Amino acid sequence: MVRRFVVVMFLVVSACSIGRVADDAAGDEIYRQLCAGCHGADLTGGIGPPLGPGSNAAGRPREFLEFTVIHGRGRMPSFSSSLNDEQLERLVSYVREEQGG
Ligand code: HEC
Repeated sequence: MVRRFVVVMFLVVSACSIGRVADDAAGDEIYRQLCAGCHGADLTGGIGPPLGPGSNAAGRPREFLEFTVIHGRGRMPSFSSSLNDEQLERLVSYVREEQGG
């Protein structure tokens, strides 16, 4: 348990130190940069739950994804200071595509 906590804290700290993504970064790049470390490069999950087809997140509305990324959820940090509206839009569109709708 302690070890798991240390790993999570490390990831939270590294997520915070990544800083801003490139203004013109595509959705998949943003995902790889900010999300893949916890949710897996193929959205199958890791420290965070799976986000891909058939996952809980896939069954939720788009607003759920946006809200979660902006505000964070549980041990997941908030990304409000790393992403502008357009980047958020591209990121969420990418995740939706990968979810198959
Ligand atoms: C530091 C690890 C970490 C990073 C980085 C991270 N997440 Fe998460 N994410 C989590 C954890 C842990 C949860 C589960 C939170 C809970 O419910 O307690 C979660 C939950 C979620 C959920 C809700 C899933 C569900 O079924 O309830 C979504 C959607 C999500 N993350 C999307 C993203 C996106 C998009 C990014 C990139 C901007 C991202 N996450 C980055 C750890 C992370």
